[in-house]
Amino acid sequence: MTSESGQQSPTDAWRAAIASRKTQMEDSEGVPAAPVTPVDHDASRRQFIRASFWSGLGVTLLGSVGLLLDFLYPRNVRGFGGPVPAGNVSEYQRGDAPKANSEGQFWIANLDPTESRPGGSGGAKGLIALWRKCPHLGCTVPWKANSGAVPFPGDPGWYICPCHGSTYTKAGVRVYGPAPRSMDTMQIDIDDAGNITVQTGMVTQGGPDNPDRAVDHPLLPS
Ligand code: FES
Repeated sequence: MTSESGQQSPTDAWRAAIASRKTQMEDSEGVPAAPVTPVDHDASRRQFIRASFWSGLGVTLLGSVGLLLDFLYPRNVRGFGGPVPAGNVSEYQRGDAPKANSEGQFWIANLDPTESRPGGSGGAKGLIALWRKCPHLGCTVPWKANSGAVPFPGDPGWYICPCHGSTYTKAGVRVYGPAPRSMDTMQIDIDDAGNITVQTGMVTQGGPDNPDRAVDHPLLPS
């Protein structure tokens, strides 16, 4: 209904609005179909192959790194480079000739502090482990018991390198030859029962203080 002023009443305007709402689509107003993009199967295959390749490569690399780390990880290192058992202190009489340990590549001796001779203990008391490798050019240094030909008659023996003649006291102190220093020492651990372990991976460069590195123990024969 239109008022005299030509304006619709609010009620009429509301009805007109309801009537104008469409409940059905005209055929002509059909929604256009969405464009169909053709699937590129070749591209999908290439992506799949590329992803498979990189995944496989990544897994292979990770596996290789894991194997390498597993190989390099030290486990129960034994023999030279690790702890090497050297018996019990009861087996080392004070002042006896050094004993060779092939597994650990060292000499070990119980130094006698009263051995004041030039080639002796240097006044040290206890066990000392000397790396057999000559500090000059690496030859294996033997212990030479005195056969009368060593420099100081009356000495029980010396370490004398067969390669160039470097000569060392029983405590491994260099007294002669081209070696640049005394024989290197290895750390010695002794447990409460007197069992000896030489840490062949813990080497200290030799020096005039070698005798001070001797390790005493209450069970060591005196
Ligand atoms: S390697 Fe021992 S003195 Fe030369």
